[in-house]
Amino acid sequence: MDNSKIKRYTVTAALPYTNGPVHIGHLAGVYLPADTYVRYLRSNKRDVKFICGSDENGVPITLKAKKEGVTPQVIVDKYHKIIGDSFKEFGVSFDIYHRTSSLMHHQTASDFFETLYNKGVFTEEVTEQYYDEKAQTFLADRYITGTCPKCGNENAYGDQCENCGSTLNATDLINPKSTLSGEPPVRKETRNWFLPLDKYEEQLRKYIDGHKEWKPNVFGQCQSWLNAGLQPRAMTRDLDWGVKVPLKDAEGKVLYVWFDAPIGYISATKELFEYARLDVWNPKAEEYYINQSEVEKGSWEDYWKDEEAKLVHFIGKDNIVFHCIIFPAMLMAHGDYILADNVPANEFLNLEGQKISTSKNWAVWLNEYLEEFKDKQDVLRYVLTATAPETKDNDFTWKDFQARNNNELVAILGNFVNRVVVLTHKYFKGKVPMCMHITPEDQQVMDELAAAPAKISASIENYRFREALGEVMNVARLGNKYLADTEPWKVIKTDEDRVRTILNISLQIAANLEILIEPFLPFTADKLMKMLNYGGHTWESAGNVNLLHRGHQLNEPVLLFEKIEDEAVQAQIDKLNRSKADNTAAAAVTAPAKENIQFEQFTAVDIRVATIIAAEKVEKTKKLLKLTLDTGIDQRTVVSGIAEFYKPEDVIGQQVSLVVNLAPREIKGIVSQGMILMSEDAEGKLAFVAPVVKHNNGSVIR
Ligand code: 2FM
Ligand code: ZN
Repeated sequence: MDNSKIKRYTVTAALPYTNGPVHIGHLAGVYLPADTYVRYLRSNKRDVKFICGSDENGVPITLKAKKEGVTPQVIVDKYHKIIGDSFKEFGVSFDIYHRTSSLMHHQTASDFFETLYNKGVFTEEVTEQYYDEKAQTFLADRYITGTCPKCGNENAYGDQCENCGSTLNATDLINPKSTLSGEPPVRKETRNWFLPLDKYEEQLRKYIDGHKEWKPNVFGQCQSWLNAGLQPRAMTRDLDWGVKVPLKDAEGKVLYVWFDAPIGYISATKELFEYARLDVWNPKAEEYYINQSEVEKGSWEDYWKDEEAKLVHFIGKDNIVFHCIIFPAMLMAHGDYILADNVPANEFLNLEGQKISTSKNWAVWLNEYLEEFKDKQDVLRYVLTATAPETKDNDFTWKDFQARNNNELVAILGNFVNRVVVLTHKYFKGKVPMCMHITPEDQQVMDELAAAPAKISASIENYRFREALGEVMNVARLGNKYLADTEPWKVIKTDEDRVRTILNISLQIAANLEILIEPFLPFTADKLMKMLNYGGHTWESAGNVNLLHRGHQLNEPVLLFEKIEDEAVQAQIDKLNRSKADNTAAAAVTAPAKENIQFEQFTAVDIRVATIIAAEKVEKTKKLLKLTLDTGIDQRTVVSGIAEFYKPEDVIGQQVSLVVNLAPREIKGIVSQGMILMSEDAEGKLAFVAPVVKHNNGSVIR
C-alpha cells in the first residue's frame, strides 16, 4: 500500500485461546513483532489501533473445562486474566485486550453471520457427523479418538494424528471412540451452513497475487491452498459453547470458532470506541485492559471500512489459511470491509531443540518468567526478537539467553550508556558539555548516527524485526567504538575541550538510542529517558545529533542491565529436565498391561524371524519404509513406520521379528503383508526386536 495514502493503521495480533497461559513461543511469534511495529508507528505519530483479545469459544476451551471438571466460563475467566496480565507486564501495548465471550462480540459475530445469511451467501448441507448416543450430543473432531489409518497410532484425534502429523477427518479413524462416554459414536445426519470458498477462489487469487511482497512462507502457503482448489467449509457447528447461530431452526448450533474469532478483531475495535466515549470510569475498561484516559475520536468503522486504513494481522504460521483465505472470503462476502494489507506470519520457536508443548510442560511460561526474572522483561523481549523465527523455525536456549544478555545487552548497550553518563558526571558534574571542535573522525560518527534511523525504519516497515534490532545495536556498537578510539579518560589529562566534544557526541548517541530502542525495549527506554532527564522525543528526531543541549543536567547513572549468572540459567535448565523426567515417567505409567488373553489367543499369532533384503522410502510420507523381507517361507512386502529412526540403506540385512499371519492391509497404495515387531521407549523411539544371535529365517518365535 502506498504510504502516502495511509491515514490510519489497524494492527491485530492473533487472539490466543484461553485454555492455558501464554509462553515464549507466542511472544516471539506474534505479540513482540506486533508490539514493536505498533510502538514504532506511534513513535512516528501515526494513527494506530492495536487490537487483541481472548479467543474464548471453540473446542479447546470445552476440552480443558471437561478435563478440570469445571464450566468453560471458569476456564476463560481464569486465563483471560492470566494472559492479559502477562501481556501488560511485558509491555505489549494493546489498545484493547477484549474477550470473545463479551456481549459486544456475540452481537457483532451474530450480525455478521446474519448479513451473510440474508445475502444468500451460505449453502445449507446435510452431512453425517459422529454422535454420542450416551452423552446425546454431536461430537467435535477433537472429541473423538481412534486409530490413525496412516500410521496405526491408537490415540489419534478426529482432526489430526499427533504421531504422524496427518490431517484427518473423524470418519477416517479406525475404531473411533467418543472421549465423552468412551463409547463408539454413531453417524447421524445434521444440517449446517457452509461458506462456499470455491466461489471466492478467483477473487482470492487476485487478492493474493496482488501481494507478492508478502513473506515467502505466507505467500507460498496461500498459493498452495489455492492451487489445491478450495472447498465449501462449514461455518456452524453442533456444540453448546460459543456464539449461537442466529437462525430460528438452529437450536444447539454455534458459529464455527474460526468464523467468530477473526470477527473478534472487529468487535474489539467497536468496544474500544464504545468505552472510550464514556467519560465515567467503567469496570469493563479494566477487564478489557483499555486505557480510558485516552479519548478516542472518530469511529471503529474508520479502521475497518475505509480504504485509507491499513490492516495488518500478526499471527503464527498455523493461522495462515484462516487469515489469508477464510477471513478475507468472509469479508468479501460481506462487502463493506477492507482486506489485510499484510499478514506477516512467523514460523515456530522451539525450546532447547524440542517443539514447545503445553501438555508436556515443555515451555517457558510468561507468568513464571516474570516471577523468576523480576524486572527483566526487556531481556526476554531482546532475546526473542534477536532470535525470532521470522523465516524458519528457530530455537530458544537458556545458554543463548544468558550469552545475549551478558555479551550484548550488558557489554554493548548497557556498558556504552553507563560509561557516557558516568564520565559526564565525573568530569562535568552531569551537565551536557559543549561540542567544541569537530574532527573528521567525529563527523564520520555523526554521519553514521544520522543514517541509522532510515535503515531501521525500512527493516521495521518490511517486518524484519531481527534485522532492525541488529541495526539498533550497531548504533550502540558505534558509540562503544567511538569511546574506545577517542579514550576520553586519557585525553582528560591533557585536553579538556576535546573531552567536551567527545562526551557531547556520545551523549547524542545515547539520546538517539533512547528513541531507537523504545519499540523493542520499552522498559529500558524508560530508564534511559529518566537517566538522561529528557523525553517526549519521537522517531522524527532520531538521527538528530543535537538532541541534548549544552548545560542540560543528567540524572545519576543507573545500570540498564545486569549480568545473568550461571546458576540462574542452570535452574531453568533443571526445571525443563524435571518436566522431561515427569513426562518419561508419565509415559511409562500410561502404558498399563492389557487385559489377560488365553494361551490359544497368543499362539494364534505366528511370529517368525525374517531378514530385510530391500528397503526404500514410501513417497510423500515421512514415517514409512517399504521393506522386502525374506521370511524363510516366502519373500514379501511390509510397510513399516520406522523411517524416522532408520535409513533404508541401514536396515538391509537386519533380522527382525515378523507377524506373518496378519491379514494384508493396503497402506499408501502398497499391500503390506505382516507387521514387524518394534519396541518403543517412553520418548517414542523405536528399535528392532530380533534374536540376539542369528537364526534361520522362518524360525518360530514363541
Ligand atoms: O491459534 C490460536 O491460538 C487461535 N486462537 C487464533 C485465533 S486468531 C483470530 F482469528 F482470532
Ligand atoms: Zn498417524
